[in-house]
Amino acid sequence: MAPRVLRSVEEVKAWGAELRRAGRRLALVPTMGFLHEGHLSLMREGRHRADVVATSIFVNPTQFGPKEDLSRYPRDFEGDLARCASAGVDVVFAPEAGAMYPPGYQTYVEVTEVSKGLCGDRRPGHFRGVATIVTQLLCLFRPDVALFGEKDYQQLQVIKAMNRDLHLGVDIVGMPTVREADGLAMSSRNAYLSPEERKRALALSRGLGAAQALARAGTSEASALTEAVRRELRAADLREDYVELVDAERLTPLPTLQPGQPARLLVAAFSGSTRLIDNQPIGG
Ligand code: PAF
Repeated sequence: MAPRVLRSVEEVKAWGAELRRAGRRLALVPTMGFLHEGHLSLMREGRHRADVVATSIFVNPTQFGPKEDLSRYPRDFEGDLARCASAGVDVVFAPEAGAMYPPGYQTYVEVTEVSKGLCGDRRPGHFRGVATIVTQLLCLFRPDVALFGEKDYQQLQVIKAMNRDLHLGVDIVGMPTVREADGLAMSSRNAYLSPEERKRALALSRGLGAAQALARAGTSEASALTEAVRRELRAADLREDYVELVDAERLTPLPTLQPGQPARLLVAAFSGSTRLIDNQPIGG
């Protein structure tokens, strides 16, 4: 069945109040649209964990830098509605920017520690924009559970910290990255890639795989693990933005893998002018 489309904050409030009166559990999947299998996996998991699934489709202006791709971010609302229907979504919230940031809007959420480093350093203000819109959505919908992809791993840690610190009480669920058959992490931004850039982009997942194999064979130094990723980026002529081994929760750099300390290897690189990110757990 086609999902019901809500456009205004007032409609969401009225719909949510009705839902709570009926005692039904709600799962929320916030997105920026141009939905792919990764998003659909979050919606399907939402269906398992709640009675009702809502998705937001909103290209959030406050998380884009002045030189980033806000105006050309890919959009396909009709296609997205069909994909939401196929994944069992009940309600789609698709507001105009002015509904979330009306004149006089002045409240922003900043998560100070896990926003540092990695994408936080390369995209100043990005996580402030993400934390602000996700806080708005969680306060508006008051879901029992909200689901996010691990592909945006730092974003997931920012949202977990914000949910904890602000006592929002939502069960924040991170779901594994969904990949194309050849290993490329699914992303709406893959639509920007030419066939040749798409092929070269495989260096990110290939590099992470090479590092994982080294770790399994006993290598623990960050320098050797990150070099395995860099080697693949160089071979594919991709421009590195960062390659880092970090503590999986605090996202602080790790010089070596330690037994019992969950670690994550993260990479960001440009294929042509498109910036791609990927990550995976390593060691442990
Ligand atoms: O991951 C995304 O698509 C966005 O950053 C999110 C979480 C929907 C906030 O705009």
